[in-house]
Amino acid sequence: MILVTGVTGQLGFATINELNKHVPSNGIAALARSQNDKTNDLSDRGIDIRFGSYNDYESLVSAFQGIDKLLFISSGEAFADFTLHENVIKAAQTANVKQVIYTSTQRSTAIDESCLSEDLHGWTEYALKKSGLNYVILRNSPYMESIPQILGQGVLESGYHAPVGEGKISFATRTDMALATANVLCSQGHDFKTYDLGGIESVSFGEIIDEISKVTGKDIPFSSPETDDYIKSLTSDSFPEAAIQALVGFANQVNSGYFDNPSNDLASLIGRNPVSVSEFLKQTFAD
Ligand SMILES: NC(=O)c1ccc[n+]([C@@H]2O[C@H](COP(=O)([O-])OP(=O)(O)OC[C@H]3O[C@@H](n4cnc5c(N)ncnc54)[C@H](OP(=O)(O)O)[C@@H]3O)[C@@H](O)[C@H]2O)c1
Repeated sequence: MILVTGVTGQLGFATINELNKHVPSNGIAALARSQNDKTNDLSDRGIDIRFGSYNDYESLVSAFQGIDKLLFISSGEAFADFTLHENVIKAAQTANVKQVIYTSTQRSTAIDESCLSEDLHGWTEYALKKSGLNYVILRNSPYMESIPQILGQGVLESGYHAPVGEGKISFATRTDMALATANVLCSQGHDFKTYDLGGIESVSFGEIIDEISKVTGKDIPFSSPETDDYIKSLTSDSFPEAAIQALVGFANQVNSGYFDNPSNDLASLIGRNPVSVSEFLKQTFAD
């Protein structure tokens, strides 16, 4: 039995739908915190919905009974409280889950064991490796579908201005990652492997803006201001402090090349080239 967590979210729901094309419903279970349209849809197809939360260890031990493979989708809430992820790993051990597949994040630097308390994904990968469980780590790149949101609503008029420099990102679509993840779940030979699920090439935001200019026929500006000037502009646009910190942190990571990890792993797992940024921008911005 394969259990997919995070099925009320975008990656989890896309993955379980892909998985269900290869594995019959009676071989699939789904973990959710509450009932909604997505869980009703899965339940109508005969998928076993098990209710539980990463915040509630006992609920996880109960939900993981009889599970061979567990797709452990990271929770954004765990950045503030790593015990959410610790609960999932401990419950998988207690319930004798045979393999845990964890959705981590791409990184250009090795995990630094002295900084684990500031590195949720590094901490979780480390904890999984120490747990004795059979694991697979999927290091997901930033979602290509997030590009319009990153650029902001006014991008076609005002352009994109953030201190990202010439830093590149090996974006891939969530859809391609879901396909690769489903393929890992329904095939063998992945024990103790780490895959980089990103594009086969990386692109900078300058290149992204050039491509959107080409697609739309508009002359869209791009600049990489100093971080202090960026913060001032976000402050004058009334962004909340937490959002400013997140945007600055992301821009700094991009600038440092943190997300510049082109890889063939995703292409190998899905049996074709992943959707490229250029294709995505044409589909998204062409009228
Ligand atoms: N690679 C990227 O660019 C990127 C970007 C953003 C996030 N992420 C990470 O990738 C994960 C999946 O992405 P997504 O787009 O599918 O996110 P999403 O749509 O926000 O889905 C997150 C899923 O995780 C569930 N979840 C969150 N906290 C939980 C908890 N404490 N216990 C049980 N379930 C919990 C949510 O359940 P509810 O519906 O009950 O909230 C939801 O089903 C995110 O959770 C985040 O960690 C990656």
